[in-house]
Amino acid sequence: MQNSAMTRNHELNVQQDLAAVLHPYTPLDKIGQTGPVVMTRGEGVYVYDDQGRRYLEGLAGLWCTSLGFSEERLVEAAARQMAALPYYQLFAGRANEPSIELSDRLIGMTRHLGMDKALFANSGSEANDQAVKVIWYYFNATGRPRKKKLIARERGYHGVTVMAASLTGLPGNHADFDLPISDRVLRTGCPSHYHYARDGESEAQFLDRTVAELEALIEREGADTIAALFAEPMQGAGGVIVPPPGYWERVQAVLRRHDILLVADEVICGFGRLGDLFGCDTYGIRPDIMTVAKALSSAYIPISATLVSGAIYQGLIEGSRRNGVFSHGVTYSGHPVAAAVANETLKLYQERDIVGHVRRVAPRFQQRLQALAAHPLVGQARGVGLVGAVELARDKQRRLPFDPASGILNHAYTAAMELGLIVRPLRDTLAVSPPLIITETQVDELFDKLGQALDRGLDAARGAGLVG
Ligand SMILES: Cc1ncc(COP(=O)(O)O)c(C=O)c1O
Repeated sequence: MQNSAMTRNHELNVQQDLAAVLHPYTPLDKIGQTGPVVMTRGEGVYVYDDQGRRYLEGLAGLWCTSLGFSEERLVEAAARQMAALPYYQLFAGRANEPSIELSDRLIGMTRHLGMDKALFANSGSEANDQAVKVIWYYFNATGRPRKKKLIARERGYHGVTVMAASLTGLPGNHADFDLPISDRVLRTGCPSHYHYARDGESEAQFLDRTVAELEALIEREGADTIAALFAEPMQGAGGVIVPPPGYWERVQAVLRRHDILLVADEVICGFGRLGDLFGCDTYGIRPDIMTVAKALSSAYIPISATLVSGAIYQGLIEGSRRNGVFSHGVTYSGHPVAAAVANETLKLYQERDIVGHVRRVAPRFQQRLQALAAHPLVGQARGVGLVGAVELARDKQRRLPFDPASGILNHAYTAAMELGLIVRPLRDTLAVSPPLIITETQVDELFDKLGQALDRGLDAARGAGLVG
């Protein structure tokens, strides 16, 4: 049905959506009953739906709209570049000015972490996917063709392309998709004491075991067959897993001992989310490759990048010499409009000292988050910087989750929506990761509403006899 001439309204949106949209990450058997929530405009940290309802976007879209939903400077940057040169590619040694400027800026921001060159793509998944290709190419070119296996962690999230989803350590991303695709992916533990500690195991003992299990895996498989570990500095979509102190130092020592590369997936952590420019800064990580997306353009336009060290780049030159051309890239690698928006985003971070702002607001955010740990429905509250999660539990002491079929998490999530707050349900948690521009007053609004939503979840759990 063609309706371009019709005035859009909620009813028409729902009707056409249900008729034609295949929704990603959505229960497809239920969307017909609930219908879509259609957003039509944004203002700062708020979005408005097609019925005029306002929501505080507590997850910044998908952990990404760092500068909120109405930054005019980004709109103007896109319009200027569209008018000057709407498209030009980087293949065959061609270039465009925005992508040159953006590479210079990104390498300037990450040189202290060892990065040397930027390879652009459009999404976090692609940035990780091409990181895998870069690594395989590099080891072939430098005479170590056996080094091919990749280690990734339980609850790790690296995206949804065939390879990125294979690295992702969440069952829903594999089931019935015939993934992981490759026996080159090895799985190691997630550093969450709350979820994976054995009975009576202290945090220190848990950390010892987690690191020892990683090393045992490497020894079992043979370090000469293992190329890299892919990891988020702080695991986001897996449930906001904040690594215990000392974790990264010890993991990196293991990797160095066995000559294994480290890919830091900064797709959520990058550009200030944790209170430093990168998660690598927060945790003292020195990676060989970094992947960035989301806040790179405040999500106003798709763009991502795989940043590689000088040593890896030298290997790619070798491979290219051997093969004639480094035969990788997508039509939109370094798209000038996307690069122009990313440049403006990074300029705004600097001009407005966004990292400083996060550091100023984060203590309030974390204090309000931690206060929810006392809520009868909450087993654990955890977070860092401007990211947090509450884990729901039917038994706090024994850390027992609700049966997913009980619908309690969904009840609290829906209650938050009714109260005008968007959070993200992830397994047994509700995650929050608002635009980085959020003010202290808005932080209070976010947690007031989250608290009320949990109260409603508690009422439902009590009503169903699930908690005392
Ligand atoms: C850490 C991390 N890596 C990769 C991705 C995938 O990014 P995209 O959805 O842009 O493909 C995400 C998305 O949430 C992410 O959180």
